[in-house]
Amino acid sequence: MNGEVLTLKVAETADREEFRQAVLDGLARSPRAIPAKFLYDARGSALFDDICGLPEYYLTRTETSILRERAGEIAALAGPGCALVEFGSGSSVKSRLLLDALPDLAVYAPIDISRQHLDESARRLGRDYPALTIEPICADYMVLPALPAIGHAARRRLGFFPGSTIGNLEPADATSFLRRARRLLGEGGALVLGADLKKDPRLLHDAYNDSAGVTAAFSLNLLRRMNRELHANFNLESFAHEAFYNSEEGRIEIYLRSLCDQSVVVAGRRFTFSAGERIHTEYSYKYDLAGLEALARSGGFTVGRTWTDPAGLFAVAWLEAIP
Ligand code: AVJ
Repeated sequence: MNGEVLTLKVAETADREEFRQAVLDGLARSPRAIPAKFLYDARGSALFDDICGLPEYYLTRTETSILRERAGEIAALAGPGCALVEFGSGSSVKSRLLLDALPDLAVYAPIDISRQHLDESARRLGRDYPALTIEPICADYMVLPALPAIGHAARRRLGFFPGSTIGNLEPADATSFLRRARRLLGEGGALVLGADLKKDPRLLHDAYNDSAGVTAAFSLNLLRRMNRELHANFNLESFAHEAFYNSEEGRIEIYLRSLCDQSVVVAGRRFTFSAGERIHTEYSYKYDLAGLEALARSGGFTVGRTWTDPAGLFAVAWLEAIP
């Protein structure tokens, strides 16, 4: 085995062990819950890419159009010679809009939990931006490692956290993420943040209950992943995707609901589910502009600008680190 393959194998084993622990903890807890980040294995990431193209899922195309329209303004606010740090970069599609607009970028540092996503997108970007210094970092953006070396020589560090990924975080976690980002970005740092906005609950409901069933397949893929990686025996026909808007909490809540009394073995342990019992998989928080402002402040930033689409579906905000 060569060094690279060995490193990959070791990382894979560590990932699987983390997944096993999280699932066993999450299924033993009451109410049952498994962290949303585990939805993104290779198949889950591909299904999420499909979600982004669904007619009901307005988020991706709306944010992309805001970024396309405002990239010049963002670049002017950023100024020349920035280090661009992207949190949870995935396939780095939206980053290209900033990479194309930012003048004399010193370095692009995508942070992503998936080594595969990271390597592939760094390779593609390297080909398309031969003059750009790319420093991919394989890490969970929630556990931001100390990265004093990122863009050390850069004039300022500009963070990029698109996609309303912040919506997956409960308010306290969103605040602590922003605090960590603030520390990492340093004095003079700024953050371009994409957040989904509160709106007609029917539109929100449909975005997470698409007619083609892709979102359901994305949720149920978590059971499939447990079957494959943890030798579980979930019957995917015996669980249903459930997503609804909780207006008191301002969030979409997503669950896998057991359709009958059943018992399942996961990593050698037996769990029983009664009919109707649920496993929580995701929250997707929706903000209004005042809520975004409050969130930014709690994390050590002020909101310099916010841009929305004409229908007010989605917001992209320019946050500045409070000195
Ligand atoms: C990637 C967290 C932004 O909440 O809209 C989409 C995830 N889950 N459909 C979202 C998701 C089901 C998505 N985020």
